[in-house]
Amino acid sequence: MLVEPNTPLQAHNTFGISAKALQLVRVHTEADVQAVLADAALGEAPKFVLGGGSNIVLTGDVKPLVLKVEIKGMRLVEETDKAWVVEAAAGESWHDLVAWTLDNGWPGLENMALIPGSVGASPVQNIGAYGVELQDRFHSLDAIDLTTGQTFSLDAAQCAFGYRDSVFKHVSSGPNGLGLAGKALITRVRFLLRKDWKPVLGYLDLERKMAETSISNPTAQQIFEWVCAIRRAKLPDPAVIGNAGSFFKNPTVTQDQCDDIIAREPKVVHYLLDDGRIKLAAGWLIDACGWKGKTVGNAGVYEKQALVLVNVGGKEHPCTGGEVMTLAKAIQTSVYERFGIRLEPEPVVV
Ligand code: EPU
Repeated sequence: MLVEPNTPLQAHNTFGISAKALQLVRVHTEADVQAVLADAALGEAPKFVLGGGSNIVLTGDVKPLVLKVEIKGMRLVEETDKAWVVEAAAGESWHDLVAWTLDNGWPGLENMALIPGSVGASPVQNIGAYGVELQDRFHSLDAIDLTTGQTFSLDAAQCAFGYRDSVFKHVSSGPNGLGLAGKALITRVRFLLRKDWKPVLGYLDLERKMAETSISNPTAQQIFEWVCAIRRAKLPDPAVIGNAGSFFKNPTVTQDQCDDIIAREPKVVHYLLDDGRIKLAAGWLIDACGWKGKTVGNAGVYEKQALVLVNVGGKEHPCTGGEVMTLAKAIQTSVYERFGIRLEPEPVVV
């Protein structure tokens, strides 16, 4: 087992923030994780599991032992009359998994094309886009308990998925079950892709593509291409402009709260949820407060999508995590003062 001291993390977080891991171990197999846990010096050390680094803000050097998950492999586990069950190792790129399933003729993940990050990180925040969330296609996952070294599997109910949320984001046990933040390393994730696939097309951006192309019954491959085109047009490519996707969750409010906001701001973008509550577009709220293009140091608000904070300093003069958080707090304050709504950050602040 190789322990890398003082390892630069700039290339391992999509914001491109410059910080170091005091100690880093790359894990390629389950056995590598077991070796770390069995090690006299490292076994007891606090640990931080790093996937693609696409949903983190580094506010300084990382003191816990960083376990960089590089476990690879994708396979068809089972085919029944009704579905394909596919499995991908945690270190695979999420987008590569989406493309691979479609190349094999197994549809279902296409609306989530081009989401940055690794397969292992995908259940942590229950990634989602264009009307489909990971939990809609999830089968089960395998993980290793970082305290005992035991392997275990979880089904969807045990993962306690919510909007950009799961058991892996909570430290203490909540109403939904055990908190596993910092306590587990996800090694493999399985997806159930149903043979009675139907396109999910409810999103305005996808409806526009249908109208533009006059294709009313698109294939999964067609949706994949549309989603890639939509994302490329409005979200910054982290390889070019550092970012961590949407920085805030879309807040939900009651009908009464929404009516109150509409009375003052008739144009507020909102969607009715199944439970009768209303989801507001955080990007619209931030945009309405005039934040597009504003900066704090080298952290900025993306010009084309106010929900995305970006590193405007590039690789040479990257923003710091402190600048990102100062900008985020200023945005939260102005949205609260104008709309009375508290925005909640989506990425994990380290
Ligand atoms: N809007 C503005 N100004 C802005 C940004 C958005 O007016 O600066 C308006 C848009 O015109 C639109 C509405 O707000 O009417 C919503 O915007 P959009 O459709 O771009 O989606 P979003 O709510 O900003 C969410 C997810 C994205 C996901 C898209 C598509 C969250 C926090 N974000 O963004 O996920 O790709 O929907 O499904 O739920 C991510 O989580 O990192 C992410 C990128």
